[in-house]
Amino acid sequence: MSKQPVSRRQFLNYTLTGVGGFMAAGMLMPMVRFALDPVLVQGAEGEYHTTKQKVDELTTTPTRVDFSYEQKDAWYTSDVTNTAWVYKDEKGEVVALSPVCKHLGCTVNWEGNDHKNQFFCPCHNGLYEKSGKNIPGTPPTRPLDKYPTNVKDGFLQLGKPEPQTIA
Ligand code: FES
Repeated sequence: MSKQPVSRRQFLNYTLTGVGGFMAAGMLMPMVRFALDPVLVQGAEGEYHTTKQKVDELTTTPTRVDFSYEQKDAWYTSDVTNTAWVYKDEKGEVVALSPVCKHLGCTVNWEGNDHKNQFFCPCHNGLYEKSGKNIPGTPPTRPLDKYPTNVKDGFLQLGKPEPQTIA
């Protein structure tokens, strides 16, 4: 087999093709990632976050559970802290409610301002029943969102809050 010297034209072709391909990949990768990110984020929505709350210790009285986790957005990671009001209903099932008021987003408190057996929102005197159902005649027009729950090694895990409809 004879060795063929690389001509000047061939050398330029190879070099320019290589450099061009490298630059094209550099431009295309962010676009591909941008297109795929919503799919990846959607997949993460089904995740549960583990709390420090032991399920055995829950009672029928709502207790405040704070939990933190690392959230990965497209290009950065941040620490997020969330809260849930958690209790066991009369069947022993775990109920976890979002504390975010459905009026304008303030934080509701269990039996706040001496409202017995209700969640109270201090911003505009919003009230909710223990189930999270909004009480007519107060500003909120929808029930509190509900967290999907799970138990792992005896500890409560919470998913992403979802709207609930209560008749
Ligand atoms: S924000 Fe809760 S009542 Fe207005």
